[in-house]
Amino acid sequence: AKKLLVDVDCGVDDAQAIMMALAVPSVQILGITCVHGNTTIENVCRNTLRVLKACGKLEIPVFQGASKSILGVSSNAGFFFGDDGLGGVPDPNAPGLEMVQKEGAVAAMIRIATEHPGEVSLVATAPLTNLALAVRIDPTFPQKLKALYIMGGNTESRGNTTVCAEFNFATDPEAAHIVLNDYTCPVYIACWEFVCRYKLPWQFCDEWLAQDSEKARFMAKIFQHTMDNAYSEHAQKEMVAGVGFVSCDSYAMAAAMDDSFVTKCDQVAVTVELGGNYTRGMMVLDTLELLKKKHKAFILKEVDMQKFKTLMMNALK
Ligand code: BDR
Ligand code: CA
Repeated sequence: AKKLLVDVDCGVDDAQAIMMALAVPSVQILGITCVHGNTTIENVCRNTLRVLKACGKLEIPVFQGASKSILGVSSNAGFFFGDDGLGGVPDPNAPGLEMVQKEGAVAAMIRIATEHPGEVSLVATAPLTNLALAVRIDPTFPQKLKALYIMGGNTESRGNTTVCAEFNFATDPEAAHIVLNDYTCPVYIACWEFVCRYKLPWQFCDEWLAQDSEKARFMAKIFQHTMDNAYSEHAQKEMVAGVGFVSCDSYAMAAAMDDSFVTKCDQVAVTVELGGNYTRGMMVLDTLELLKKKHKAFILKEVDMQKFKTLMMNALK
C-alpha cells in the first residue's frame, strides 16, 4: 500500500483530494493534519471530520496544527469556499471536535514519519506552516519522508490571491520559504498556472456530481457555493487559460497516489520571495542556477488527464 500523510486546510478542493485518496484501497492515509488557511483551524478540523464521515472513514486520525502563519497572520478563502470552508452548508450531525486527536499535528507528523522511515509520502494542500514547524523541531524529518507533494506556488508570477502569489504561499510565505529550502526529500509541486491549464470541463463536473451515491450528494452540496461565486463568468477570465473547474489540491494528491500520473516535470531549484511591494509570497525559479542550490524540485508540467478523470469519478462512487 502507498502510505500517505495529508496536510490540509480543508476547503472544498482539499475535500475532493481527500475523497480521491479514500476511494483507492491500495492507498493508506496514516493521518490527516490540519492547518489554518481556507478557514479557521477549528473549521478545518470539523470539515476534515465531516469528509471522513461522508466516506465512512472516521477511524483515520485527525490532528490539529497551526492556527496562524509563522508571523501570526490569519486568512480565509470565504469567497471561494464559503465562510466555513465547506460551502456554508453546516451539518447539524457533524462529528464533534472531541474526535480530534490529543496529540498535536506537528508531533504526529514527525512520529508517523519516524515509525515508517522512507515510506511515507506527505501531501500538503494548504499553507505550509505545519511543515515548516516540523523541520525546525526535527531537522531530519524531511529525510524520513519518501517524498513531498505540494499544491502551491506559481511559475509565471500569476497570483490568485495577490498580484504575484498563489494562496497557499501567500498565506504563509515564511513557511513556504523554509519548506522549499530545507526539505531535501524529492519535492513535487503542482503550482497554480499548471492546475489551471488542466481544468476539467463543466460537462465532466455535471456527470461527476450526478452519480447516484451519498458521496456525490455530499459533494454537490458543499461545492454549490464555489460554483455560484468563484466560477462566475468574470472570475473565470482571471483563471489563466480557458473555462472549466479546477480541483487544485487533487493534482498533488493524484501525483502522490499514482507514479504514472505525472508524465513530464521541470527540475529546478525554487525559493520564495519574502520582500517586495508586489511579489511577497511569489515562487521564484532559479533556472539560471545563480543561487547554487543543490536541491531541485520537480515542477509538474504534463499529466495523464484520463487517469485524473478516473480518480475523480471514483472519488464519489
Ligand atoms: C489553493 O488555495 C486554497 O484555497 C485551495 O484549497 C488550494 O489549496 C489554491 O490556490
Ligand atoms: Ca487547500
